[in-house]
Amino acid sequence: MRKNIIAGNWKMNSSSEEGRSLVKGVLDGIHELKKTTVIFSPPFLYLKEIKDVINNRENVSISAQNMSQQENGAFTGEVSHSMLKDIGCDYVILGHSERRQYYGETNEIVNEKVLKALANNIKPILCVGETFEEYEAGKTLSVIKEQVTKGLNSVSEGDMSSVVLAYEPVWAIGTGKTSTPENADNVHGEIRKIVESLYNSSVSNSLQILYGGSVKASNSESLLAMENIDGALVGGASLKVDEFVGIIKSSEQ
Ligand code: 13P
Repeated sequence: MRKNIIAGNWKMNSSSEEGRSLVKGVLDGIHELKKTTVIFSPPFLYLKEIKDVINNRENVSISAQNMSQQENGAFTGEVSHSMLKDIGCDYVILGHSERRQYYGETNEIVNEKVLKALANNIKPILCVGETFEEYEAGKTLSVIKEQVTKGLNSVSEGDMSSVVLAYEPVWAIGTGKTSTPENADNVHGEIRKIVESLYNSSVSNSLQILYGGSVKASNSESLLAMENIDGALVGGASLKVDEFVGIIKSSEQ
């Protein structure tokens, strides 16, 4: 049985104080987690202090929102895998559509980052998803196939147990438009087939695939009820205690 992951991607939001009180509020609002790993993904600056607020709570982790593909050296403004490891960061979101769209991250760059994370025991949450134009043109599956195949290039079968995938249709991010549970489940099923063709059914069956794009407490239950949806990557609603707690509760049901 695959466990769920509920990850909150704060993007470039919150202050130090707001972040700490948000995490305290969420942790106070949930009980022991039986079926779910909860991940907080604040901006780099706050990772360490959020880790301290979590205080080793079981099944709760932190994730970075990005990571350099370089080892170390003269790369002004970048953050390396060893720095993330140094502060006890277990996960990193890679290939988010905002990184692809605004910072020119190609599938090749995303793949370098995925490999670098895995080589250093950081679990990548690899994001894929089509734009509205691609969706309208019926290109969803071909775009996803290319992003998954290239993003996982040279990832060994053994390392696949540390990889998490996230399907985030770009047109559903921050727009209030959500893919229907059936449509999202269908794409997740296709992602599983792509991964099966790249590896085998054991890898594809154990892969956790998260859905992202306007997930909130009011729609999370129906999304998480779908067979191929193993959690959510949440943006806006992860900044509100009640919303994020509600999403976590629907995962625990
Ligand atoms: P929203 O939940 O705000 O649509 O953002 C989704 C997202 O991009 C999470 O990574």
